[in-house]
Amino acid sequence: MANWVTGKVTDIINWTDSLFSIKLCAPIEKFTAGQFAKLALEVEGERIQRAYSYVNSPNNDNLEFYLVTVPEGKLSPRLAALQKGDELLVTEQAAGFFILDEIPDCQNLWMLSTGTAIGPYLSILQQGNDLGRFENIVLVHAVRLGQDLSYLPLMQQLEKSFQGKLRIQTIVSREKCQNSLTGRIPALIENGEMETAVGLSMQAENSHVMLCGNPQMVRDTRQLLKEQRGMEKHLRRKPGHVTSEQYW
Ligand SMILES: Cc1cc2nc3c(=O)[nH]c(=O)nc-3n(C[C@H](O)[C@H](O)[C@H](O)COP(=O)(O)OP(=O)(O)OC[C@H]3O[C@@H](n4cnc5c(N)ncnc54)[C@H](O)[C@@H]3O)c2cc1C
Ligand SMILES: NC(=O)c1ccc[n+]([C@@H]2O[C@H](COP(=O)([O-])OP(=O)(O)OC[C@H]3O[C@@H](n4cnc5c(N)ncnc54)[C@H](OP(=O)(O)O)[C@@H]3O)[C@@H](O)[C@H]2O)c1
Repeated sequence: MANWVTGKVTDIINWTDSLFSIKLCAPIEKFTAGQFAKLALEVEGERIQRAYSYVNSPNNDNLEFYLVTVPEGKLSPRLAALQKGDELLVTEQAAGFFILDEIPDCQNLWMLSTGTAIGPYLSILQQGNDLGRFENIVLVHAVRLGQDLSYLPLMQQLEKSFQGKLRIQTIVSREKCQNSLTGRIPALIENGEMETAVGLSMQAENSHVMLCGNPQMVRDTRQLLKEQRGMEKHLRRKPGHVTSEQYW
């Protein structure tokens, strides 16, 4: 049974009509970068709870989550309506294995995300621990429209602070956008455009690929990497090249 603590909203950032970030303070136990908490609200006597990845570094007590409003969703529209000072419930302990401890050493670590699933990578990169064992890290954020690149300034800041070790790449699917690739993650891997744009290769011999977000993107990319590149799902008992987390 999860232990719940009360969190207080300290800030809401509305990036677009449907994308927002919630900042809050809550007496949680220390989490590991890449993990998620459950957030909950009591609605008509029922506790509605869903998983959300931490965006902040574990070293930062200002807890941050990046959300999209699913129009017919039970919880996300209610979280979108919260205001500074409002309270919500947070699980005291975080959960999940989408963390660096589960990733084997490699030359190129690819962090691929759609939509709000950039969150866990931002937490890992902001903390910055245990990254010395990768020669290169690539952070990819794929969204529908250019306006959905909410964390681009932070991505750019991180790229600068990593002094060449981190490369960032944005992908926009529904319009042409300067400095972004156009299309979807699996297609841009299949035709080689992503590797050309980034300037690094993605092969079983040199890479590990982390995938996070849209479940169909995760499935399609896993299948492509297996068929085209011979890259297998990574398991503790059988090391491979692909680690993933699906958001629904
Ligand atoms: C490990 C994990 C981490 C997650 N982290 C985040 C996060 O950081 N930010 C975030 O916004 N969401 C995240 N999610 C998704 C989140 O838990 C909820 O599913 C989402 O907010 C929708 O909840 P809802 O009650 O509004 O909709 P529901 O009533 O539960 O769902 C309605 C339908 O919407 C679809 N759906 C669910 N989530 C999404 C989504 N994110 N995008 C598009 N369609 C969706 C599904 O088809 C679902 O059946 C995460 C999920 C998991 C499993
Ligand atoms: N983002 C918004 O502005 C917006 C606005 C209103 C409502 N919503 C709702 O919010 C939810 C999530 O939207 P989202 O934009 O955050 O996430 P999303 O629908 O997962 O889209 C994010 C990115 O993932 C891509 N993608 C989708 N399916 C894929 C697949 N099978 N393989 C590879 N890439 C794939 C999308 O490309 P495509 O564009 O080609 O699908 C897009 O570039 C949806 O329920 C949506 O209805 C979003």
